[in-house]
Amino acid sequence: MTELVLSSPRARGLFVLTAHPEGCRVRADWQLKRAAEAFEKPLPAAQGRTALILGSTTFGYGSSTAIALRQAGFDRIIGVGYETPPSFRGEKLAMSSPGWYLTHALHSHDAAYETYLADAFSSLTRDRVISDLRARGIEVDLVVYSVAAPRRSHLGQEWNSSLLVQGDALEVVGLDFKSGQLSPIRVEAATDLQVEQTRRVMGGDDLEMWVSALLYGGRAAEGMTVAALSYIGPDLGPLRRMYWDGALGEAKKHIDATTAQLNVRLSSAVGGRALTVMNPAVVTSASVAIPAMLRYISDYLGCAEAGRGVYEDPLDVGIHFVRSLYGEEALWQSELDAEGRLRMDQKELESSLQSAIEELWQVQESGQPDPMTAQGFARFKREYNMLYGWGVEGVDYEAACRVDPEMGPEQRVMDLLSENED
Ligand SMILES: NC(=O)c1ccc[n+]([C@@H]2O[C@H](COP(=O)([O-])OP(=O)(O)OC[C@H]3O[C@@H](n4cnc5c(N)ncnc54)[C@H](O)[C@@H]3O)[C@@H](O)[C@H]2O)c1
Repeated sequence: MTELVLSSPRARGLFVLTAHPEGCRVRADWQLKRAAEAFEKPLPAAQGRTALILGSTTFGYGSSTAIALRQAGFDRIIGVGYETPPSFRGEKLAMSSPGWYLTHALHSHDAAYETYLADAFSSLTRDRVISDLRARGIEVDLVVYSVAAPRRSHLGQEWNSSLLVQGDALEVVGLDFKSGQLSPIRVEAATDLQVEQTRRVMGGDDLEMWVSALLYGGRAAEGMTVAALSYIGPDLGPLRRMYWDGALGEAKKHIDATTAQLNVRLSSAVGGRALTVMNPAVVTSASVAIPAMLRYISDYLGCAEAGRGVYEDPLDVGIHFVRSLYGEEALWQSELDAEGRLRMDQKELESSLQSAIEELWQVQESGQPDPMTAQGFARFKREYNMLYGWGVEGVDYEAACRVDPEMGPEQRVMDLLSENED
């Protein structure tokens, strides 16, 4: 057992290398409390059900959806996430992930949470999860696909997802994370191979394999729903080029095509359904890496702080999603768009908010941003740090805390990454 005082994070560029265990615990508690307030009584349609959440472990959409489902009455939340144990250089903490501590916090509260720390893209992981489900006689009612990954191994090769545009390179003034100043960014055009690799990593291939494995293994419950999380975003030119019209957008279009096919299969096999869920932009470790997104979300947050729009964090969205699917009125049917996608992004796309953001994007000179953008950026940084347990209210950062909590079968954590290394 190692106890350390961690008063500030180690970081490399954008990436925070060391999470704060106590900060993550307090943040998890805060989310559990908010979800408990949102679902004072369980939703009858949610009770007794089992969810499989692929990409469940960070303070992003997967864990928030998991928390909302559990508080709404789900009996069992089986998560899969890619997290490795804290590592040390001598007596110093070299790396530790917030997902490790978040998972520990959720598991120590509630026996309904079970997590596989594993590569969701690996057939070994799928086989193991399905065979455990079969051995225990468990069927899955809801699959949430919330994996955001930079790469995967497939057919003996490494495939990388890229954050590049299509067509001409994109030149735009973005926001610099380090200085908080507006500065030019150039995003290169992806080659056909890079687009294809992005599709293979962030598209629907693995979702399709997971659903097939559940169906063939007899683990899909009657009426099983599959929800694949996605993003389309506003019409705002640079963002549209960066995301929906870029390499990532091709992967998300592949997700759409995959859910459309799965919908037909699930409907005839188990009377179930598959949906793409269009979620709003939020501060997560995945969104910070996307060029132009930092400026856009800072503008969004700045407008929300100025009362010109509403920002929903991943838990707000998770709660909305659960109500939509399992609330009394089966709201989801009225929240589908013409393409059959479930729209959770109405608040982000609200026209007066988008006009306010577009006004901010009129500024195309480098330097100090508009005060509204600057205020939004300050909030972005606070939210971003809290994803790693830093800057969380009520945490004493001068107190020692345990950095290597037990995470094994006793805690219902199956660490397949370490097992497969042995
Ligand atoms: N962040 C946004 O603004 C936003 C907006 C709309 C939709 N989305 C979508 O939501 C989904 C989740 O994104 P997020 O922002 O919550 O990301 P996140 O980085 O917070 O979470 C990603 C999850 O995927 C897991 N993961 C990554 N590689 C894995 C692997 N090989 N095996 C198993 N698990 C793996 C991580 O452990 C983590 O639990 C993505 O599909 C994303 O496109 C995100």
